Amino acid sequence: MRNSLMIRLVSLLLLAFIGFQSVAQVDYKKETPEQKAKRMDWWTDARFGMFIHWGLYALPARHEWVKNYERMTSEQYQKYFEEYNPDLFNPKEWARMAKEAGMKYVVLTAKHHEGFCNFDSKYTDYKTTNTQFGRDVIKEYVEALRGEGLKVGFYYSLIDWHHPDYTIDRVHPQRQESDSAYARLNKGKDMAKYREYLKNQVRELLTNYGQIDVIWFDFSFPGKNGKGRDDWGSEDLLKMVRQLQPNIIIDDRLDLKDKDYGWDFESPEQYKVEKWPERNGQKVYWETCQTFSGSWGYFRDETSWKSPAQLLELLIESVSKGGNLLLNVGPTARGLFDYRAQDRLKAMGEWMKYNNRSVYGCTEAPAEFVAPDNTLLTYNAKTKRLYIHLLAYPMGNLKMKNMADKIKYVQFLHDASEVKYRTGKDEDSQSVNLQLPVLKPPMEIPVIEVILK
Ligand code: GLC
Repeated sequence: MRNSLMIRLVSLLLLAFIGFQSVAQVDYKKETPEQKAKRMDWWTDARFGMFIHWGLYALPARHEWVKNYERMTSEQYQKYFEEYNPDLFNPKEWARMAKEAGMKYVVLTAKHHEGFCNFDSKYTDYKTTNTQFGRDVIKEYVEALRGEGLKVGFYYSLIDWHHPDYTIDRVHPQRQESDSAYARLNKGKDMAKYREYLKNQVRELLTNYGQIDVIWFDFSFPGKNGKGRDDWGSEDLLKMVRQLQPNIIIDDRLDLKDKDYGWDFESPEQYKVEKWPERNGQKVYWETCQTFSGSWGYFRDETSWKSPAQLLELLIESVSKGGNLLLNVGPTARGLFDYRAQDRLKAMGEWMKYNNRSVYGCTEAPAEFVAPDNTLLTYNAKTKRLYIHLLAYPMGNLKMKNMADKIKYVQFLHDASEVKYRTGKDEDSQSVNLQLPVLKPPMEIPVIEVILK
């Protein structure tokens, strides 16, 4: 009697232990497409996020690659560390501006290629808390975003132009012409130590600041005098990231593109994709990252700023091909968003206020719907609504093919005013002619909402 009770007890404990193990061990390598879709759900709904590049390069204010472009040594770059004091830094303002622009998540550089850390890392002195400024930027940033209900992302540069063990390679400020020069300069440097440093810092970032929603590693450049997965210890790093933050979303720059589990989304940088990107015949998750004017870090003298209309088109176009837009701000060395960035964020927010229904939760329209010239279509499968974005405002009417049987009701999105339509005749009986007012509605890009049957 006693024995059988004992056996039962032991087997119960054993079962509980096995159960615990399977919960505790995230088998990210076996994640199904459905499980991934669930993990990615908030991100595909969000569609619009803010990138922030902020570091010592805000002081020279002429590109975040300035150390590289001007081939500065760490000694020459040191003056920026010494003068760093962004006295007007207020991440609550940043978070508020992101939210008002309609963005749902933010990704901030915890460390960029220059190696300077925006957080209080145990593993380096080269950090914001050791400057005159003295504050843990990442900590305040995370709190501010949560205060606005925004998702939290970190960018972490795999590249490091400051760490003494990081070997000189072809994208380093001290890059060389000959193999022998590389060998001479890299003597005594130990990438294994750097690898450990990088892993330790990522562990800090994913342990000390609560739930992190996105991590953005940047970037790999395998090949001669380059760096890739073995240099970063990518597999090992990924494993740790997935263990520490099982729900996190990871970009595709760890040089693990050949593994399904090695990345979550593609990250086309500063160009428009022609169509929804695919891998092995499958449409993939993707996010394009874009600047207002070319540089990621604050660049005082840049004049090639995109207009609000261009930026909105970038956003709508991404959604119309099933992707996200991560739009970058490079705050100044006082800690403020550049006035030109503020203008554009405001303009986008104004549009989003009235039209965000054509962005959130939307994606590429089913192939049966044909976009007329100068329009972009997006589609919400849950609400069964099709959105027609008028990039150039048509004269009086807009013809849509293949629609007559499918329409329940049509309206402008910004003011919910009815848009009347006529169906075509005979062989044209499936097309509809939307009757538009002559006067363009007061929206940068007017949107027609078609409620489908
Ligand atoms: C690049 C650049 C970098 C920027 C990044 C954003 O890889 O090196 O400065 O942070 O793209 O995507």
